[in-house]
Amino acid sequence: MPRRVGRHFLNIPGPTNVPERVLRALDRAVIDHRGPEFGELARGVLDAARKVFKTRGPVVIFPSSGTGAWEAALVNTLSPGDAVLMCEIGHFATLWAELARKLGLKVEVIPGDWRTGAAADKIEEKLRADKGHAIKAVCVVHNETSTGVVSDVAAVRKAIDRVRHPALLLVDTISSLGSIDYRHDEWGVDVTVGCSQKGLMLPPGLGFNAIGEKALSAAKGARSPRAYWDWQGMLEPNKTGFFPYTPATNLLYGLEEAFKMLFEEGLDNVFARHARHAEATRRAVQAWGLELQCANPAEYSASLTAIRVPDGHDADAVRHVILERFDMSLGAGLGKIKSKVFRIGHLGDFNDLMLAGTLSGVEMGLALAGVPIQRGGVAAALDYLAGGAPGK
Ligand SMILES: Cc1ncc(COP(=O)(O)O)c(C=O)c1O
Repeated sequence: MPRRVGRHFLNIPGPTNVPERVLRALDRAVIDHRGPEFGELARGVLDAARKVFKTRGPVVIFPSSGTGAWEAALVNTLSPGDAVLMCEIGHFATLWAELARKLGLKVEVIPGDWRTGAAADKIEEKLRADKGHAIKAVCVVHNETSTGVVSDVAAVRKAIDRVRHPALLLVDTISSLGSIDYRHDEWGVDVTVGCSQKGLMLPPGLGFNAIGEKALSAAKGARSPRAYWDWQGMLEPNKTGFFPYTPATNLLYGLEEAFKMLFEEGLDNVFARHARHAEATRRAVQAWGLELQCANPAEYSASLTAIRVPDGHDADAVRHVILERFDMSLGAGLGKIKSKVFRIGHLGDFNDLMLAGTLSGVEMGLALAGVPIQRGGVAAALDYLAGGAPGK
């Protein structure tokens, strides 16, 4: 490969750009994870994590990817043979369902078109019909990273409550936490799943479970075999800032710094910044004359935009041209929308000019790949960005 000059544009929807402050925080000597300095660090991050998940309950942090945190949520609350209800809203929802099946759960899937979010009314219908309360959990992906669609978690909670069904609500916030408003306690979520490499601006390697009271009591009776993922083994030592096994020490230094950055900016400002960048991106897409994968404006994602290429064109070829010519990585279409969609990640440590550069690369790349577009997408986005408050 020829030497690349300047900075690579990392515009996949996670892992995201790790800011300098976080990189510097990671660049420290490893300390004794059973010593007092570590205890203080861990107590601080476990406490700050609660503010980001918006919960008063415990948050546990695994040295894992998001998939591990998915598994932890299921094995701690459920028993083999339990029925779980899932919504097929995209690739990641599908993968979570497959994982649940491998754990011996009976997965019932509400089919979807991969262009809209979890349908609270269909969940309600299923739960109403489940008179014997066989369904033990409803699993929802808040921000489906493969499609750029956000599901209304509060509406799902209301649907469960309306039919007085005791199922737990488990939610994946892997690509929304720290980018899109999320409220574990207020929305009555029982377990929230997160990870480090997206809105939290860290490298991959940390998985999170925010745990509500109902989930904690379900864990007492849950018979899924678990050891590494067991909350009980984690929660007791966490009280004093320790872990049952070796934690990802340096990632926790990075996490401490990332939380500081989010709080300095203010979570509401962080969410507004993401929403503004998403709107600017959609204006560019509209000006190009292309179609969004998300079909419902009320469900547009603020952390990424998935864009359909016209029939007869290949989204992977577009990404290839953009990588080769402009050194920018974009997200691929996944699963059944492979080659039909490419995704622009605009989450994490991201500002107006980074977005301007990103959209410029996409506009040039689409033209070079022979996709029929109107020029002027970048101009439409810049007009919008110049009109809004800076950094908002
Ligand atoms: C919504 C969502 N859930 C789960 C995952 C899986 O996370 P990981 O790849 O860190 O295991 C991803 C990864 O991108 C995701 O976007």
